[in-house]
Formats: sequence, C-alpha cells, structure tokens
Amino acid sequence: MHKVIFDTDPGVDDAMALLFLHHHAEIDLLGITTVFGNATIETTTRNALFLKREWKIDAPVAQGAGETFIPHRITHEPPKFIHGDDGLGNIGVPDVIDLPVDPRPAHHFIVETVRANPGEVTLVAVGRMTNLANALKEDPEIVSLVRQVVIMGGAFDVNGNVTPAAEANIHGDPEAADVVFTASWPVVVVGLDVTTKTVMTRSQLAEIRDAGGKRAELLFDLSQFYIKFYETRVPDGMVVHDSCACAYVVRPDLFRTRTGSMRVVCGGLADGQTIQKPDDMGFGPSDWDNLPSQRACVDIDAEGVLKLIHDTI
Ligand code: BDR
Ligand code: CA
Repeated sequence: MHKVIFDTDPGVDDAMALLFLHHHAEIDLLGITTVFGNATIETTTRNALFLKREWKIDAPVAQGAGETFIPHRITHEPPKFIHGDDGLGNIGVPDVIDLPVDPRPAHHFIVETVRANPGEVTLVAVGRMTNLANALKEDPEIVSLVRQVVIMGGAFDVNGNVTPAAEANIHGDPEAADVVFTASWPVVVVGLDVTTKTVMTRSQLAEIRDAGGKRAELLFDLSQFYIKFYETRVPDGMVVHDSCACAYVVRPDLFRTRTGSMRVVCGGLADGQTIQKPDDMGFGPSDWDNLPSQRACVDIDAEGVLKLIHDTI
C-alpha cells in the first residue's frame, strides 16, 4: 500500500490524476494539498473541494501557497488557454463549495502527516514545488521520514513547454524546485521527456466515460477544453502529464530512469531549466558531486500507462 499526499493545482490533468489516486486499490490517499499554478490558489483550492465533493473523496484538503517560495518572484500567469478560466475547462464550477478546508496550511499538513507516518508517505507533487519547499524549510528532518517524492515537472533532454528551456511546474517557482531536488530525500522526476509521449486520444477518453459511470462523465466533460488545446499540438489527443507521476507510484516498471544529481536554473534566459548530471558522466570533481543522486524518467511504456489509467478509472 502507498500512503500518498497529493500536492496539486487542479487543473484538468490534475483532476484525472486525482481520480486515478482515488480509485487505485494500492493507494491510500491521506490528503490533498493545493498550490497556485493552473489558477490562483483560491481557485485551485475551490476546485479540489469541488472534485472531493463530486467524487466523494474522504481525504482532507489543505490550502497551500499562493505565491512563490521567494516572495514576489516574477513568474508566468495561469494558463487559462489550457485549463480554462476556472481551471477545470469552463464547466461552471460553483464559486463556493460548502465543504471545510483543513485548518492547517499545506506545508504544516505535510510535516504533521509525514511525522505521524514515518517512512511511509509518498509525496506526489504535480504543481509548483512551493509547498514542498516550505515544508522542508519548516522541518528539514522530514527528508529522512518521507518514503519518496514523485514529481511531475521539468524537461531534461527535451524542450520545455513555457519557454524552450523550462516546463511549467518548474518555471512557476524555480527556487522551490531547486530546494526540493537538492534535498536528501529520494526524488523521482516525471518530466516532459516522458509525459509528452503519453497522449490519450478522444476515443480512449470516451471509452473511460462509457465504462466509468458518473465520475468518469465529469472527467470527460471537464477535459473537453483541455483536449481542444492539445489537439493544436498533438494529433487527436491530450497529454496526461500528472497521471504519469501517479502511475509511477504503483508501476515504476513502466518507466526507465536515469540517476544523477539535479539542479534548476534560477534566473536569466533559461529560468526554470532542469539539469541532471548523470552519475556515470565523467567530469573532474565538481560541486555537483556533493548533491544527492535523484531519478529522472527518460522513457515510458506509454501504452502501458494509458491502459493502467483506463483500467483504474
Ligand atoms: C504541468 O503544468 C500544468 O499545466 C499541468 O497540470 C501539469 O502539471 C505540465 O507542464
Ligand atoms: Ca498540475
């Protein structure tokens, strides 16, 4: 069993990933923590509550960061052209959802839940890394108490999707990501190198709707805006970024990884670029040698992941 805290900015592909975690028999979802990104923090939290209500998810929702790790850092605006004005494909989410939010800020929720379950919690982070960096700042000892950190973000051997160098989740808060990558806990990064290979077609999405009941109908409806955007980039389908990170938790055998230290470029033309120094790369001694070795996903069995998503949801 995997005890998971899902750190998210719903977000259309975040919603699919949440439904995956909720339905998978080997996942025990301990909590949902929200972060700004695909929309403002108020909107991503409202969306998490909406999905919790519609999909009858027991896990608490704790609201997290509404701005970058370093206050007032310049970052990109929410991508309304991908996720809609409401972050969920303009399906008309009510302004207010009558459900309580956990009283703790997300980073306190993370620290307390990790301390209550030493060695057991997997953090799955599919938005900006701000809440994780704030949790590390609050309690650096959690590095030895977390089972692993699985991240959707970054682009190692391919271009980014916000700039040629940077992927959205990392570009949105590069300093936070650098803190998370260089901390001494086990990190797996599921980036654009593999997520862009994982394209769900319209007919695969319709199959999920037809087989998955009311919950899958909502997922189908909220995905329509997002799939229209992606169809301008990939033929007949949408990239299911965040579900790939969730798939890694239960089926790491569907991925090929490379180990090495990682850093994030903070500032300048390549702001938010992720760089890995592979462990087997022969330089002379350098600062990179004193960093923990983390895993970057470099290949994926995309058909296998799409089938896993289908069968789970
Ligand atoms: C990531 O950015 C967000 O738009 C998606 O939800 C995903 O987490 C992809 O670059
Ligand atoms: Ca996301």
